[in-house]
Order: sequence, then C-alpha cells, then structure tokens
Amino acid sequence: MQERIERAIRNAIAAGQGARAPKRLASALDYAVSPGGARIRPTILTSVAMACGDDRPEVTDAAAAALELIHCASLVHDDLPCFDDADVRRGKPSVHKAYSEPLAVLTGDSLIVLAFEILGRAAVHDAGRAAQLVVSLAQRTGSPNGICAGQGWESEETVDLEAYHQAKTGALFMAATQMGAIASGQDPEPWQELGDRIGESFQIADDLRDALYDEATLGKPAGQDDLHGRPNAVSTLGLKGAIARLDDCLAGAIASIPSCPGEAMLAEMVRKYAERLTPVYSAAQTAAE
Ligand code: IPE
Ligand code: IPE
Ligand code: MG
Ligand code: MG
Repeated sequence: MQERIERAIRNAIAAGQGARAPKRLASALDYAVSPGGARIRPTILTSVAMACGDDRPEVTDAAAAALELIHCASLVHDDLPCFDDADVRRGKPSVHKAYSEPLAVLTGDSLIVLAFEILGRAAVHDAGRAAQLVVSLAQRTGSPNGICAGQGWESEETVDLEAYHQAKTGALFMAATQMGAIASGQDPEPWQELGDRIGESFQIADDLRDALYDEATLGKPAGQDDLHGRPNAVSTLGLKGAIARLDDCLAGAIASIPSCPGEAMLAEMVRKYAERLTPVYSAAQTAAE
C-alpha cells in the first residue's frame, strides 16, 4: 500500500512541475512532499477505501494524494515565521529555511491548488465521487471547520481546546476516513466518528511528544506548545489526564468502525497504531512519577 501511495503522490507533484515552471519553485514542491513523514492520512484513507471494496482505485489514489498534499502544504505554512517559526521539519531545514519565505508561501499555495486539480481530474473515472471529494476536502481545509479555522484559533484571546484540535488536526483525519468511503462509493457520514477519534488521539500523542521529547527525536522543534503559549492536552489535562484521554479515544475509535467487509482489518490497523504509541505512554508514565 505504501508504494501505491508514494506513486500517487509522485504523479500528483509531477503535474505541478513541467518545463515551464520556475525551477526553484518546482524543486521546493518536491522538497516539501518527499521524503514524507508517516503518511498516516493517505494510509487511513486507502485502508478505508479498501475496506469498502475499492472499486475505483484511480479515484482512491487521487483522493489519497490530494489529502497528503494538503497536509504537506499545512506544514510548510505552519513552519513560517508568522506561525510557529520552526527551522526544522522531518529532520531537515523547513521549506522557508531551505528556499526562502516567498517560495514557502508559494509552495504551500501551489500544493493546495494542485490537490483540488487532482480531484477534479479524477472526474473522468467517476464524476459524482470526484465532486463529493472536492467538497469534503474543501470543508476540512478551510473555514469554519478545517485547518484554516484551526490555525485561526491561535489568533483568539480564549481558545476552546476541543474546537482547536478538531479543526487543526482532526479535520484531516475525518477527511481521511470520509474520503476513503466516498472514493469507494459509500456514504461518508458513518465514517466521521472514526476520523474524529483517531485525530484526537493523534493530537494528544503529538502534544505529549512535544512536552517530553527533544528535537533530535522528533525531527522538528520540541517544547513548542509552551513556548508559544498554545493550549494543549498536557497543560489542560496533565500527563495522566492526557494518557487517560488517549486511551478513551483509541477504544472509541475501534468501537466506532462502521460495519463493512474490511471491519476487522480496520480494527487491526487502529490496534497497530496504538502499539506504536507505546514509547509515548512509557515516557509520560516515567515523567508523571
Ligand atoms: C504533524 O503531522 C502535524 C500535526 C497535525 C500534529 P504528522 O506527524 O502526520 O507529520 P508527518 O507528515 O508524519 O511529518
Ligand atoms: C500543525 O500543528 C498542524 C497544522 C499545520 C494544521 P502544530 O504546529 O501543532 O504541529 P507541529 O508540531 O508543527 O508538527
Ligand atoms: Mg502550529
Ligand atoms: Mg508547528
């Protein structure tokens, strides 16, 4: 599955390059997307699509690539000096450090536009599903419920942690489960809860790592939430509270999987994901003692 996802992402990026593109911008597009991180969002999307039959694989691949491009764009913009001012991402200089701030803004913009172009082009395989995917991804990217809204909470005086996390991070996980269902011709509504729960567990784990790990382990700056005074699961719930909430989210995720041919496979995917969080649990337990 990973090779399938990488191929879809490579094809998508190639569409934004070509002989006429300015060379440094074309290069920055590659740099922002490859080598990637964990590719967790397209992996969830493709897993849900497969659990539902994956009868239009070209549409699934377009959806997976589009979602990962939006995620990568969000990281490029998030690292800019006007947001988190982070010099390192995925163990290498962030895009504005490697290329310049104007090119980082343009790289993020180009990736967002490219994501929707890819979905539009998928209409040749299934026009109805492609149109639904465009709307679903747009809702999870913009305002009031998408990443833009999530980042927008950082400019408010008082922040509702749940609304902030749900829009900043949960949105793309809900997009992952719901776009997977849409790509396979299923109703996306029953898939929202699974994305929501995985998204919340992911953000809590990210907040724990931010508080407990160092930059070398993370491949991005540590201690950022406290540095920027951002509301986060550790400051709001404490280490033990955050761990308890993480447990609840993971159990809820498994319980919420809609019935479908690949239900058992998806439960196994969530269990494996939980297993990979074991070091975070141990670090939190040690720090809490
Ligand atoms: C980081 O996401 C941003 C958050 C929402 C916390 P990932 O941890 O999925 O980033 P990559 O793609 O694996 O680097
Ligand atoms: C990044 O959130 C998520 C988005 C860009 C929407 P954070 O700022 O919390 O994540 P990291 O720590 O930089 O990956
Ligand atoms: Mg941020
Ligand atoms: Mg950040």
